[in-house]
Amino acid sequence: MKYNFGHTIRRIGTSCSKWDSEKSYQTGEVIPMWVADMDFPVAEPIMRSLKKRLEHPVMGYVWRDPEFAELTTRWMKLRHGWETDTDWVTFCPGIVPAISASIQAYTAPGEAVMIQSPVYYPFRNTIISCSRKVVDNPLKLSEGHYTMDLDDMRRKIKENDVRLLIFCNPHNPVGRVYTRGELEEMAQICLENNVLIFSDEIHSDLVYKGQKHIPIASLSSDISNITATGISPSKTFNLAGLQTSSVICENTEMRKAFEKVINMNSLQFCNVFGLEAYKAAYREGEEYLEQLLEYLEANIRFCQKYFEHYLQPLEFKHPQGTYLLWIDCRKLGLSAKQLEEFMLKKARLSLDSGYWFGQDGEGFMRMNIACPRMILEQALEQLKDALKTI
Ligand SMILES: Cc1ncc(COP(=O)(O)O)c(C=O)c1O
Repeated sequence: MKYNFGHTIRRIGTSCSKWDSEKSYQTGEVIPMWVADMDFPVAEPIMRSLKKRLEHPVMGYVWRDPEFAELTTRWMKLRHGWETDTDWVTFCPGIVPAISASIQAYTAPGEAVMIQSPVYYPFRNTIISCSRKVVDNPLKLSEGHYTMDLDDMRRKIKENDVRLLIFCNPHNPVGRVYTRGELEEMAQICLENNVLIFSDEIHSDLVYKGQKHIPIASLSSDISNITATGISPSKTFNLAGLQTSSVICENTEMRKAFEKVINMNSLQFCNVFGLEAYKAAYREGEEYLEQLLEYLEANIRFCQKYFEHYLQPLEFKHPQGTYLLWIDCRKLGLSAKQLEEFMLKKARLSLDSGYWFGQDGEGFMRMNIACPRMILEQALEQLKDALKTI
């Protein structure tokens, strides 16, 4: 079927974070383009399976049937060429809970966990709330392109006795989809220094033409043996409110340690709708995904043209993956707080501030473009008018 992503759906009044959490979003004064979910409807097969389940009036405890793992392994093979075993698949209610569980499973309080900033801010916050030490291995930026600083990584792992790396690929917020060469080199450092990897691959289905997502654990059995991979249909199919994800981990000892923490915190129970949606997405979601990627990429191209014509000196590099634009606003010469104020008060846009992702994110803003073109046009127009005032 043909999906109409251009159709605006009013989300106000659905208790959604994005549109309901501030009065100014509800009144239309500010356009919310912050939290990473989409203003699009979910795929038809998902709605169909949810409606079918709703027709049954009993909503008791859920048992995750074998299909949960079977459909997960099928999707990994189909979309990413990754051969996994159903035994490696374990449930978690979300990828942030999985990160927290991994930190607790693989490190002791006070031990060091590495991240690569600027990066999705719950990485840092979760390490801190688990009373572990954050070791930052900032990405390098050259002409708008981010790469890993592997010399810095090697050195800091040794200096701090890092036990675990929380890795993000595709990378939120910078939009990188790492190459095989980059992944191999990074994994080699982890192997040589006994560092385990939690690979957050929640954005892995959202990669654009010319790019290929490579699950790091698919590179070799040695790498698979030190890796737990977080995946979910929640970004791809807009199911974040259903709290159903999984972690794929070949190493039985690592998997059992992870499951132990999940059980200790009573997080092992799936919800009835989450399970149905998860399975429908991985069973029948491909058609939707192909069309979604086209729409998102067209939105990005639209932004590129608009930025070139009207929004100088703001600039961004076409992301290789994710529906997030990492906008370089440094040439405006504003402080982080002034920039935030400018976007909210002058442009009337609610974006994620770059400094939330780490110090090196200062001067950047993250814009979520997974919305109908009309909303995007309105947002960019507001930004254009705001720029005229400085
Ligand atoms: C890289 C990354 N990891 C995890 C999450 C959140 O995952 P969950 O809602 O499953 O905890 C997000 C959401 O934006 C994300 O971008």
